[in-house]
Amino acid sequence: MKKIEIITRQEKLNGLKELLVVHNCQGMTVSSVMGCGRQKGYIPEMNIVGSDINLLPKVMVFTVVEDDETEELLADIANVIGTGKAGDGKVFVYDIQEAMRIRTNERGEKAL
Ligand SMILES: Nc1ncnc2c1ncn2[C@@H]1O[C@H](COP(=O)(O)OP(=O)(O)O)[C@@H](O)[C@H]1O
Ligand SMILES: [Mg+2]
Repeated sequence: MKKIEIITRQEKLNGLKELLVVHNCQGMTVSSVMGCGRQKGYIPEMNIVGSDINLLPKVMVFTVVEDDETEELLADIANVIGTGKAGDGKVFVYDIQEAMRIRTNERGEKAL
């Protein structure tokens, strides 16, 4: 199992939700976060000097999927929400060691 963590623009949330449903994701967790990437939160044309950092509001979505789903999901995320512009966001992929549905005690992929 893999945890797919997506941090992107807030206005991409609806498209992302639809995409996850299409990929048969069994659940998702969404939070509002603040963040910055390489531009330190400024528009690329601004040429900021020094160590100032501007945190921008972003949305963070995570879902845990079966290993086989990972590559197609990543490809689709890039296709559907990518604009080619700075601030499109990032995806981090983590190995998930175990899962358990508390209600039934099911473990592993059955718990997704
Ligand atoms: N290396 C990182 N570690 C943790 N979060 C990151 C990292 N890079 C980007 N993020 C998160 O992703 C959001 C979008 O990043 P983005 O501006 O698209 O990245 P970059 O400018 O590096 O191409 C950031 O606002 C931040 O919340
Ligand atoms: Mg950036």
